[in-house]
Amino acid sequence: MRSVCLPPTRRLLRCLLPGAPAAMNRSFSLDVSAPLLRTQALVDGCWVSAAAAFPVLDPATGEEIARVTDCGPAEAKQAVEAAHRAFGSWKQTTAKERSQLLRKWFDLLTQHTEDLAKLITFESGKPLREARGEVSYGASFLEWFSEEARRVYGDIVPSPARDRKILLLKQPVGVASIITPWNFPNAMITRKVGAALAAGCTVVVKPAEDTPLSALALAELAQQAGFPAGVVNVVPCSRERTPSVGAVLCTDPLVDKISFTGSTATGKLLLKMAADTVKRASMELGGHAPFIVFDSADLDKAVGGAMASKFRNSGQTCVCSNRFLVQRGVYDRFMEKMGVAMEAELRLGHGADPDTTQGPLINARAAEKVATQVADAVSRGASVLRGGKRVGVSFMEPTLLAGVTTEMLCMKEETFGPLLPVLRFDTEEEALAIANASSVGLAGYFYSQDLSQVWRVAEALQVGLVGVNEGLLSTPEAAFGGVKQSGLGCEGSKYGIREYLEVKYMCLGGLRP
Ligand code: SIN
Repeated sequence: MRSVCLPPTRRLLRCLLPGAPAAMNRSFSLDVSAPLLRTQALVDGCWVSAAAAFPVLDPATGEEIARVTDCGPAEAKQAVEAAHRAFGSWKQTTAKERSQLLRKWFDLLTQHTEDLAKLITFESGKPLREARGEVSYGASFLEWFSEEARRVYGDIVPSPARDRKILLLKQPVGVASIITPWNFPNAMITRKVGAALAAGCTVVVKPAEDTPLSALALAELAQQAGFPAGVVNVVPCSRERTPSVGAVLCTDPLVDKISFTGSTATGKLLLKMAADTVKRASMELGGHAPFIVFDSADLDKAVGGAMASKFRNSGQTCVCSNRFLVQRGVYDRFMEKMGVAMEAELRLGHGADPDTTQGPLINARAAEKVATQVADAVSRGASVLRGGKRVGVSFMEPTLLAGVTTEMLCMKEETFGPLLPVLRFDTEEEALAIANASSVGLAGYFYSQDLSQVWRVAEALQVGLVGVNEGLLSTPEAAFGGVKQSGLGCEGSKYGIREYLEVKYMCLGGLRP
């Protein structure tokens, strides 16, 4: 591994969207201030290069926007060892010291919102307005955990013996491997790393192969904030090297904890690897969110909620509504209003275009998956009321499907794209049975003005997060985590830091009564 601590150069890139209509074909530039455009790994406080590099592509155009160092198992191991060494002194810092560093990191993210947002847009495709929102969301976890760092209390428990005291101490778990997805290249890192650092853990981050630039920019700002060497390490790698790097991060005996956001299938593989050394694990995995509209719903609010929860990040979030269930009495009016809202509010294009609300999907495979679900639904009798077509390589038109049934693919698997399939139902029992007929349970949403129904349905839905007359739930103050095969543990809230702490029972004996 070569150690090169030179600042990278400024990049100016121009991009066109191949195969897209002329109106979408404009040129855009990625112009980010030099220190934030990092392309090396951060290991033990130094920017280092592996022997090879891999390309980072703009998903809208397929063009290369940067080449990033391609870490392998050797670099991952060095990062783990650095984190292990740093843990020795980091765990001795006071909660207030950790809080202050997290607060500085938060301030730096806020100061650099525009550059961080551009990186998110160019490497993940997310429209700039949403990317700015993600930076603010990401920063909010650093702010929240800078505050929570100082509220990690132990317990003194009434003892059954007169000569003993019982104390429950909270201690940091140790080195945490943080494996993050491309759909929130900034916020999924801060949500995990903020909690880990606040608790006194050190981290090795492996960002998604599609979006390493956002992770490295965060690492640069962590350096500027003053975190000691080895406390935050980032090892980017290509898709080809992901399995071998992932294996180090999930099996090395010096790693105490893994935290992953991504698909349920990958989460299961990581859990199996981590089992051999009994690592602690937090898993934020796939969802298949139902969105139920009952006859008593305020339809305008339901349509607004559906737009927000379905089309955020072009449908590419784990909590995006995936299955729409609408009661017979309001079905026709809901479909009409939904079509009008989609027509008025959604515009496809490059994320850097200020008019764009729907960027590309992460790659051609993702667009193909949505198109396959549409074709399957149509072949089984659904009708396309809006959209339905692929555009260029990685774009998909926002699509509204009517006449959907539970046999269709879109009702059986997570779409991760801008497809809004609607099934008509008659009774609350029927809607709940369909909503709960899934092996995963992350988010669920419903609209009703009937108070008894609100309470019944909120309790009965088998999900970790439930939006009642709300389509957007995410905030650092609340707990984010799924039930069933949607994951283990939760992030954010006062519980998020708990994932990085052990409880130690200390028995203070031999006391004179
Ligand atoms: C995710 O899609 O994994 C996260 C979404 C959120 O935090 O709202």
